[in-house]
Amino acid sequence: MKEITHSFTYQVFNSPADLAASDRELLEKAQEATKSSYAPYSKYHVGAALKLANGLIFTGSNQENMSFPAGLCAERVAVFAAASAFPDVPMASLAITAKADSFEVSDPVPPCGMCRQAVMEYEMKFNNKIRLILGGHSGPVYVIQGMGTLLPLAFIEKELKK
Ligand code: THU
Repeated sequence: MKEITHSFTYQVFNSPADLAASDRELLEKAQEATKSSYAPYSKYHVGAALKLANGLIFTGSNQENMSFPAGLCAERVAVFAAASAFPDVPMASLAITAKADSFEVSDPVPPCGMCRQAVMEYEMKFNNKIRLILGGHSGPVYVIQGMGTLLPLAFIEKELKK
């Protein structure tokens, strides 16, 4: 028997003002995207902005449904839109944030488990890490160097080939 430890390092910025300009701009696009959220049930408006390696930016927001599981998270809306439009272009950075109707989102918004798996697919497809820029409506911003960092022991393709 042996024990294996996974740990990861991420950067914490006190506010968006401290970010590199390109990260700050991407987070601003994610903030803008919260305005197109359709969240009549949770009243929690998530915005995502994905920058491709060619510099193009795709945004997405959460789209809810009265049959709850039929809705989709902001991250997957953005990532699937980009993958549909530019299937051969690697993904570089993904910014995520949220705004709630009844409270202040003052912590960085991390992607849910399904979004981690969905984004990881493209990280593996292109063998190219997707940097994450996670913000709240206020408060600090986390920068994480790749989705794999947040999804250790991810389900990967070789499992399908057994
Ligand atoms: N949501 C996202 O858009 N992204 C996540 O990673 C977590 C959750 C949405 C789904 C739902 O519309 C609302 O936030 C509350 O869960």
